[in-house]
Amino acid sequence: MSSQIDHLLNETRRFAPSADFADNAVATAELYERAAADREGFWADQARDLLHWHKPFTQVLDWSNPPFATWFADGELNVAYNCLDRHVEAGNGDRVALLWEGEPGDSRRVTYAELTEEVKRVANVLTDLGITAGDRVAIYLPMIPEAVAAMLAVARVGAIHSVVFGGFSADSLRSRIDDAGAKLVITADGGYRKGKVSPLKPAVDLALAGRNGGAAQETVEHVLVVRRGGNDVEWTEGRDLWWHDAVPAASPEHEAQGFPAENPLFILYTSGTTGKPKGILHTSGGYLTQTTFTNRVVHDLHPETDVFWCTADIGWVTGHSYVAYGPLANGATQVLYEGTPDMPHPGRWWEIVEKYAVTILYTAPTAIRSFMKIGREVPKKFDLSSLRLLGSVGEPINPEAWMWYRKIIGGKTTPIVDTWWQTETGAIMISALPGVTETKPGAAQVALPGISIDVVDEDGAHVGNGNGGLLVVTEPWPAMLRGIWGDPDRFVETYWDKFRTQGYYFAGDGARLDDDGDVWLMGRVDDVMNVSGHRLSTTEIESALVGNEAVAEAAVVGASDETTGQAVVAFVIVKQSYLSAHSPEGLAGTLRGWVGEQIGPIARPRDVYIVGELPKTRSGKIMRRLLRDVAEGREVGDTTTLADTAVMSVISAQVR
Ligand code: WTA
Repeated sequence: MSSQIDHLLNETRRFAPSADFADNAVATAELYERAAADREGFWADQARDLLHWHKPFTQVLDWSNPPFATWFADGELNVAYNCLDRHVEAGNGDRVALLWEGEPGDSRRVTYAELTEEVKRVANVLTDLGITAGDRVAIYLPMIPEAVAAMLAVARVGAIHSVVFGGFSADSLRSRIDDAGAKLVITADGGYRKGKVSPLKPAVDLALAGRNGGAAQETVEHVLVVRRGGNDVEWTEGRDLWWHDAVPAASPEHEAQGFPAENPLFILYTSGTTGKPKGILHTSGGYLTQTTFTNRVVHDLHPETDVFWCTADIGWVTGHSYVAYGPLANGATQVLYEGTPDMPHPGRWWEIVEKYAVTILYTAPTAIRSFMKIGREVPKKFDLSSLRLLGSVGEPINPEAWMWYRKIIGGKTTPIVDTWWQTETGAIMISALPGVTETKPGAAQVALPGISIDVVDEDGAHVGNGNGGLLVVTEPWPAMLRGIWGDPDRFVETYWDKFRTQGYYFAGDGARLDDDGDVWLMGRVDDVMNVSGHRLSTTEIESALVGNEAVAEAAVVGASDETTGQAVVAFVIVKQSYLSAHSPEGLAGTLRGWVGEQIGPIARPRDVYIVGELPKTRSGKIMRRLLRDVAEGREVGDTTTLADTAVMSVISAQVR
């Protein structure tokens, strides 16, 4: 890590915006001045300018009961109306909303008029199924237009969606359904991934299967199923219904009603430092204001002419804010792709860019690094000249990947925005503004207009330029999380207790300020890992491991990985009886598969080491730092606080 930091700080390349780009850019330097002069007024202006309010607001921020904020609280809006109807009413019904590309090569163009009608029908289906404002609906779908329609329909009736990434297991789905008390699940028979149908409905059936009066069984009344994969599915009469039966039969008339700005919009589960995922709660008015604003200024979105492509799955926050909400609220045309980047050939993404003349591409550093590994010959085969802006999100981007992205994908001229934010922040917080900021490869750089951040020491004091510390947000922002579903104490504890005196939001990220005061993100400072831009908790994987009957103890670390940023590495103590009956290689393979089944393939450890002991302090705390040294092939650091100082040499020998 420290060599990485030194390397970053030696980065001196700078890229000033071209005059051409700056002339046509949405963002201007003046935005910073306006926001600095009157932060709340600035956000109120954005909310009024960018959104339609059924009832205008008169209040902006209420921070009288921190850390519980409200924004625009006496205003009313309908999120789906803002993403759909108003564009049709403005005469843009024929504009394409979704350029959808299925993995097998099928495709669909969905206009704003068509999407609006579909969402109205789905909203009527939801109402018929008894879904009303405040009810929770779980969505477990592949990347198909119905996924976007489902989210918007839930929003339209004022209900709350909880999208669960299709790569999560039945167990993960069940715990999320239970925690939210979902009444309805919207899923598909299956979706295409890696050249074959990956089943989804069977996981829903499993999640809802009888288990001694488990909660999901009691709350879920219906399962609405899209036919996509064509795979065989079991059917529970009275509970399950096909989308293709229910939706076309429903009325296309549905008047959008205004809901209070603080009406919850969604819950999205994300990994924290404990074994139990947190349900991050977002509400409507502030969230939609900031996602719409940032999509416009950070992605330099010109909705009439651009073709936007955010490659994130709707199961992650990036897919919420920059697939479902931001681009649609802005009335943009966007690409939606179902499958993996390498199906059926490694140039699939670039083929899509060429086919749809994509102008703005927003993706994760992991994807860029894996393309780097394959080589420039692949993208070079396609015409990428339509691209005029590139974005990065989800993890730190190393300068090499940044330069490659600019040169090979961006034809040496395309500006890059490295955007820092989190599930909790709801929308982009730190990023260069294209056309305004001189960019630095590897740095997220500056807080957006209207956003206040700092880098502080353990006591909350500003570290000053040239120094490292902890990233904090110092003022409430419109898209901030409003809480953790069902657990207000955990919300306060996790994000606000550390800098309670200052009232700062603690992001859990380390950062450095360079001599210009620009921010360089340095990775998580807690037990959260970032694998391919996906957040995973070490504790969550450890509890999955010890849930296997062979395992006595487990410790998990995130080790740096050339492609995925970090990789999951597990150190496991196996019970004696299993050790004598199985080979370590066999056990390691079994346990990797086990974690994949328990949580989902993304959590499957890259390496599982069967060891005899784990390094612990005298108070019994596992010293993950030392295990990380081993996993990254470094000399093991200071072991003097270990209860048994010899244990690390034993582990190192076993791992080798
Ligand atoms: C990391 C994804 C460096 C960070 C939108 C954060 C980043 C976590 C960047 C949130 C970036 C996100 N540079 N690190 N540009 N963007 N991160 O909730 O550690 O899935 O705390 O939200 O990703 O991950 P999440």
